[in-house]
Amino acid sequence: MERRAPKKVVFDFPEPGSEAAAARMNAPLFAWVVENLLRNALDAMGGEGTIRARIYEEGDYTCLDLSDTGKGIPSGKFNTVFKPGFTTKKRGWGLGLSLAKRIIEEYHHGKIFVKSSEEGKGTTFTIKLPRAGREEGAELREVKLEG
Ligand SMILES: Nc1ncnc2c1ncn2[C@@H]1O[C@H](COP(=O)(O)OP(=O)(O)OP(=O)(O)O)[C@@H](O)[C@H]1O
Ligand SMILES: [Mg+2]
Repeated sequence: MERRAPKKVVFDFPEPGSEAAAARMNAPLFAWVVENLLRNALDAMGGEGTIRARIYEEGDYTCLDLSDTGKGIPSGKFNTVFKPGFTTKKRGWGLGLSLAKRIIEEYHHGKIFVKSSEEGKGTTFTIKLPRAGREEGAELREVKLEG
C-alpha cells in the first residue's frame, strides 16, 4: 500500500517484529480490512499527510490504532460511516467499513470503531481482536500481527 500511495504520504508503522502481538485472526480477511482502512485514509488526505499504526494490548484484546491526518469525520457520524451504502465519495459504494465491521465483529469477535476524529485534522480507527489463547472462533488460526 505504501508503494502505491502518493509520495507525500508518510507511513509511520512499527518496525516489523518490534511490537509483535499474538491475536486470533484470519490473516487474508484481516489484511483486507486494514487495506480498506488505509484506502479510506488515503482518500481522506488528498495526497499528503501521515498514516500511523500503533499496536498495544488492552485487557483481553490486542489493539491496532490506525490514524490519518485527513479531513476527519463529523462527531455525529462516527457510527453512520459503518452503515452499508453510506458514502461521501463520487465513486464510493459505502461498503468498505460495513464489511470491515462484519469481518471484525462477527467473524473475529472483535471490535472496530472510530476512536477519535476532528474535522480538518484527522481520524483514528481502532480494531480490537481477542488475544490468542482465548475465545475459540471457527476457522480462526493464530498468526503474528506485526506492524
Ligand atoms: N479515514 C477517514 N477519514 C474521513 N472520512 C472517512 C474515513 N474513513 C471513512 N470515511 C467516511 O466514511 C464513508 C464510508 O466509508 P466506506 O469505506 O464504508 O465507503 P467508501 O470508502 O465511501 O466506499 P467503498 O465501498 O469503496 O469503500 C466514506 O465515504 C467517508 O465519508
Ligand atoms: Mg472505503
